[in-house]
This record gives sequence, structure tokens and C-alpha cells, in this order.
Amino acid sequence: MERVIAVAVPLALVGLTVLWLTRRGSKGRPRAGSGALTLLKNEVLRYSQVWEDDALLLAALDVKKGDSLLAIASAGDNVLNLLLAEPKSILAVDVNPAQVALVQLKLAAIRQLPHADFLLLLGYASCEDAAARRCELRDKLDLPRETRAYWEAHEETLKKGIAGSGRLETYFRAFSEQLPSLGWPSDAIPRLFAAKSIDAQLKLWQTLCTPRFEAAFRKHFARETQAEHGRSEQQLHHVDKAEDISATLLERLKRMLQQSLCAHNFYFRRFIDAAAAEPAAGAPYLLEENYARLRQLLPRVTVRTQTLQEAVAEVGAGRFDKVYISDIFEYMELSDAHALAETFASVMPSGGRLAYWELYLARPPSPHGSFVLDTTSKASRMTDRNFFYRGFHVLQKK
Ligand SMILES: C[S@@+](CC[C@H](N)C(=O)[O-])C[C@H]1O[C@@H](n2cnc3c(N)ncnc32)[C@H](O)[C@@H]1O
Repeated sequence: MERVIAVAVPLALVGLTVLWLTRRGSKGRPRAGSGALTLLKNEVLRYSQVWEDDALLLAALDVKKGDSLLAIASAGDNVLNLLLAEPKSILAVDVNPAQVALVQLKLAAIRQLPHADFLLLLGYASCEDAAARRCELRDKLDLPRETRAYWEAHEETLKKGIAGSGRLETYFRAFSEQLPSLGWPSDAIPRLFAAKSIDAQLKLWQTLCTPRFEAAFRKHFARETQAEHGRSEQQLHHVDKAEDISATLLERLKRMLQQSLCAHNFYFRRFIDAAAAEPAAGAPYLLEENYARLRQLLPRVTVRTQTLQEAVAEVGAGRFDKVYISDIFEYMELSDAHALAETFASVMPSGGRLAYWELYLARPPSPHGSFVLDTTSKASRMTDRNFFYRGFHVLQKK
């Protein structure tokens, strides 16, 4: 009996310590990475569009015909944009069942609906009886059981137009709706997007970027407001509390307006005036000219409600040539991001590429890891059309 206790007690203590470390993080603090993951698993539709520049991503990953891809599903935009590059397969995963329900709805719509109805269903187009038509279109589709249940339970979102109804998009709209009361004339936005030179754009911008505008921007995008309405405190956990992120965002917006023309910037248009943003100026998967080809390619996509980590663990003897992970490295310590990068590397061939964004935090690759920054990629020399990101990385496996 004494011998059993002598073995069992230390074993139990080791087990409890491992459990404690796993839940608290190696430095004894709660692991915000898992906090963010737990939060993201809830069924709130957080993103009704993807804000990560498709042109940057496509240039970065340089998808080849035989490639197998692993991608964050999110709202599905970049999964479908990548599909147009005709890889062999894409596994799209998301921890949040609401995001998966949106992607499944998009896939079913592309499979079964004419292009105009696809845009109407998603809220990229409207008509007089849009709410009723959207319900009719949903009812026509062959949807997985959970997807149908989701869109029956969230019919109000469907009726309003999904494209503007994610938590983040609703938060952006709450800002753009303030613009008239901040003194922006009704033709300000069309004029901004019609500017033909940076000088003309900046001249107009100087009349719009008043102290009142700046104060409203700073208030709306302050950390607390952002955490409460747009993103969440868990997603911001590793961002230094002393950093004034609204000032950072305002600086980035000004820099973008100094460097590139708004015209054709679908991301900025959706940010500042979602209702007026023409899909014709938007992501490739929304365009009519790509629709028939997109439909043909759909069998190459698999969508699952799971984490990227789970997808990698399940790949077995398979591999992923290209991996796209949004900005998830921000939700964890840099050392944990490096460890996760190694997990991706373990299922990628030499020359495989990993693409990710940074929003507020620098997440450079480990100098001792399996990846090098890919300086050959065209994407590393391009500018992000979306002003709010800090950076974008394309890594290549050694
Ligand atoms: C990473 S979020 C970021 C979106 C936007 N860039 C932002 O910062 O607010 C995009 C999607 O990733 C999903 N996600 C986050 N971590 C994940 C993980 N480890 N595995 C699978 N999905 C994840 C979220 O549910 C969400 O739909």
C-alpha cells in the first residue's frame, strides 16, 4: 500500500501541475490564446466579410495547381478567392460554428443559385422585397443540417443582409453612420473615391479630417469600445494596455490616404460606406465573370468546425503546401506563436508557404525555426489595401 501511495502521489502531483500549466500558461498567467479560442467558439457571427487583402494573400501564397491548402475559414471570402487559383484542395476550418454556417451558405448558394441571387442572399445586392426573397432563397438551398438550423435561428441577420451584419461590420457601420453629424457633406465619400491623384485626395481629406472627426474616431476605436463592440478583450489580451490603439489606427488611416488612391479600394469602401460598396469593385469571388468557374471548383473545398491545430493533428500522412492563418499569432505569446509555426512546418514540404497578418503586435518568425521570411514573394513588396493592419508576413519553409 505504501508503495502504491509513493508512486501515485507524485504522479498525481505531476498531472495536476501539467493541467495547471496548460490552463494558466507557462508563466502562471491565464493563457489568453485559449481564452480567445474559447470566446471565438461561441456562435456569434463575428465577421461577415474577410478584411485581409485578397490580392496580397494570392500573391504571397503563389498557389500552384497541385497544391493542398489549409486556411482559416472566417467569412469564407479568401477561401473562395484562393479557390480561383485552382489548387488541388482547400481545407477551411474555423472554431466558430457561426463562421462555418456562413461559409456553408456561400458554398451552397454558389452551387445552386444564379449570380444575382447569390449577391442578394448574401446582402451584397438588394431589392424591394429583399428580406422575403432572402428567406425564399435560403429555403431552396441544400444545406447541411446545422447550417440550415443556424440560418433559421438567425433569420433576422439573413433578412437584413448578412454582408453588413457581423459583429465587426456592425461596429464599423456605427462609426460611418456618425459621419454626417461630424460635418461630412453627403458627397464627401463619392468625391474621396473619385479623386484621381493623391494631391486631390489629400486636399479633400484635409477638409474631412477635422478635430471633431479625429475625436470621434479616437473614441469609437478606443481599446474599451473595440473590446466591447467590435472585437473582444481576449483578442487584445497581449496588446500593451499603455498603447493607444485608436491613435495607431488613425495614423495608419492617414498614412494610407497619403500613399494610395481610395478609388478601387474595396476594403476601405466597405469600412467607410458598406452600403455603397459595389461588389464589382470587390473581392474576385463576388464577380460575375468568375462565378461559373468558382462553381466548378467547389468540390475541392472542405469546411470543418475545428481549430487549425486540430486540422494539422488530423492530416495523417498528408501535407499542406500553403497555409493561411489570418492574424491568430496575436492571440498568443510570441514563443507560443513560434511553437505553433513549427507545428505547421511539420506538415509542410520544403518551399511551402505560411501567410499571416499582424494587427497590433509584431510576430516575426523565430530565427531558429523552420521558416525564413520569403523575400521573393511579390506580396512582400505590395501594400495592404486595408489600413488597419500593422503588417503581413509570408514565410517559406526551409
Ligand atoms: C483570427 S480571426 C481575425 C479576424 C480579424 N483579422 C481580426 O483581427 O479581428 C478570423 C477567424 O479565425 C477564427 N480562429 C481564430 N483562431 C483560430 C484557430 N486557432 N483555429 C481555427 N479558427 C480560428 C475565428 O473564429 C475567426 O472566425
